[in-house]
Amino acid sequence: MNRVFSPFVKSLLIALLAVSASASAEEKKTAAAPKIDAAKGGALYTDGDNARGLPACVSCHGANGNSTIAVNPKLSAQHQSYIYKQLVNFTTAERNQPVMTTYAKMLTDEEKHNVAAWLSAQAVKPGAAKNKDTIDLGKKIYRGGIAEKNVPACASCHGASGNGIPVQYPRLAGQHQDYTVAQLGLFKSGARKNSAQMTTIAQRMSDDEMKAVADYVAGLK
Ligand code: HEC
Ligand code: HEC
Repeated sequence: MNRVFSPFVKSLLIALLAVSASASAEEKKTAAAPKIDAAKGGALYTDGDNARGLPACVSCHGANGNSTIAVNPKLSAQHQSYIYKQLVNFTTAERNQPVMTTYAKMLTDEEKHNVAAWLSAQAVKPGAAKNKDTIDLGKKIYRGGIAEKNVPACASCHGASGNGIPVQYPRLAGQHQDYTVAQLGLFKSGARKNSAQMTTIAQRMSDDEMKAVADYVAGLK
């Protein structure tokens, strides 16, 4: 062997062996990562898990994520990565909220992925704007921002029709006005700390501006 292979060829062989060993370690890692199972997420959403005292998400967020209760957000068609991020953020000080923090801590990482995948595939039931007196102001803020306060157009990140941009920017279209107003308030006060961008924006807005833009958003389709 020693006579057949020069030291150069030997070191080459050793390098090749090392590469194939690390490649198989990589394959094992991929095989161990849980596969996202939207159907399991749907079952969890609809039934909860009695054994763990985990309530059914549907009881607050409505059939297919189309909540009919204004303080509980609609989740249907929300971007998968955004939903997953929120469920993780609820387990930390970034988004501490008594109800959701309790439930998010009960969910495994796999369940967070599964339920996010299922919700993102559910069809939206559109909402409606309700206040004729503020609709023009809301539209102006959403589309053009508030120049004198250095508030950027919401549309620049959340999209002209409020569908957001997957991965970075959540969908807002059709969301309950009360929920949207509440979140803007939480960003402003610093209670919700998971977006420096939104905190800066909310700090520049008055309550009336928040209400106007949130009502406009509720009617976006
Ligand atoms: C008792 C009512 C209740 C139950 C049950 C419940 N939620 Fe929530 N959920 C809320 C409320 C209220 C909020 C808004 C929290 C806030 O103000 O930040 C919320 C927020 C969320 C958000 C953030 C949405 C966004 O647009 O940022 C996600 C995601 C979510 N819930 C998923 C779930 C899942 C998944 C389950 C089931 C495991 C569940 N919720 C069960 C009440 C509930
Ligand atoms: C520079 C980009 C940017 C702009 C401009 C922007 N947003 Fe956002 N917004 C974000 C990001 C990023 C998030 C997600 C934060 C997170 O990960 O929790 C967000 C989240 C939100 C949420 C929380 C959604 C939910 O389901 O809980 C609301 C409400 C919101 N934005 C409203 C607005 C409004 C109203 C405007 C205009 C006044 C606006 N945003 C402008 C980037 C932006």
